[in-house]
Amino acid sequence: MSSPRLGHPHLGLGVGLRSRHYAHILREEPAVDWFEIISENYMDSQGRPRYVLDQIAERYPIVMHGVSLSIGSADSLNWDYLDRLKKLAVGVNARWVSDHLCWTGIAGKNTHDLLPVPLTEETLSHVADRVRIVQDILERPLVLENPSSYVTFACSTMPEWEFLSRLCEQTDCGLLLDVNNVYVSAYNHDFDPEEYIDSVPHDRIVQVHLAGHTNMGTHCIDTHDGRVIDPVWALYQRLHQHTSGVSTLLEWDANIPEFPIVHAEVLKAKQYTEALPTASKTSFAGESDASGREEAAQTVLPHPAVMVAAEVE
Ligand SMILES: [Fe+2]
Repeated sequence: MSSPRLGHPHLGLGVGLRSRHYAHILREEPAVDWFEIISENYMDSQGRPRYVLDQIAERYPIVMHGVSLSIGSADSLNWDYLDRLKKLAVGVNARWVSDHLCWTGIAGKNTHDLLPVPLTEETLSHVADRVRIVQDILERPLVLENPSSYVTFACSTMPEWEFLSRLCEQTDCGLLLDVNNVYVSAYNHDFDPEEYIDSVPHDRIVQVHLAGHTNMGTHCIDTHDGRVIDPVWALYQRLHQHTSGVSTLLEWDANIPEFPIVHAEVLKAKQYTEALPTASKTSFAGESDASGREEAAQTVLPHPAVMVAAEVE
């Protein structure tokens, strides 16, 4: 049994670092606890993004979050990518390195999407082997995030929380639990998000993600373009009662407002943790803002991987 959070500290409430906030952060030095960066936006850059990041890394803890590891792919691992990932982790003193339980391409083609894997014994064995290799190369535990998904596989034989639990057990990797992704996938695939929250291995959770999404009525899309909705906060509160506190980060990747608004959104987490009121029943059956669904249906949505395209400079 590993120590809680794999021995990582509870960093507090963090914000995803986005280029539109660079000037504000450098000028104002806001009292945010930590930042998460999208690894790919800085791996190849020795220009302004890296220059800014190095200054921010001197003042705040940095965590790395990648979107290109493709741990579930049948392609061989990208050794060059892993080498550059490791160099960046060392360079910014990353507290930990995360990516997603997904695959992003095949035959050398990158879809720039986070695609779900079949939840089978064969996939578990395949992914576990690759996680071990990645951890050996990075010389640190890998932290993997539950993805949001829009399709499932008829051949899957276990729920996602079981797949992740067994993966953590077999490889000693950590878990980045995206509570919004649990909500989105539960809505799209009609599973119980509370059972998911209750069943994941809580001592393996190194980090939590929160984000907004877009409800299209028939399905939810993980757009990261707005505030966290109340049912997701309720799941977060439920999770907190299992973990007693874990580093929490807000992702806001499209229609990004000024930094104080983004920061204020993640600070709402204190309402659900410090007072620790009795967990309210998650109103999962429907979101409260029904009119928002109609509004959303007419909205041009950002691509789910917008944080990469928009951030690469
Ligand atoms: Fe996330």
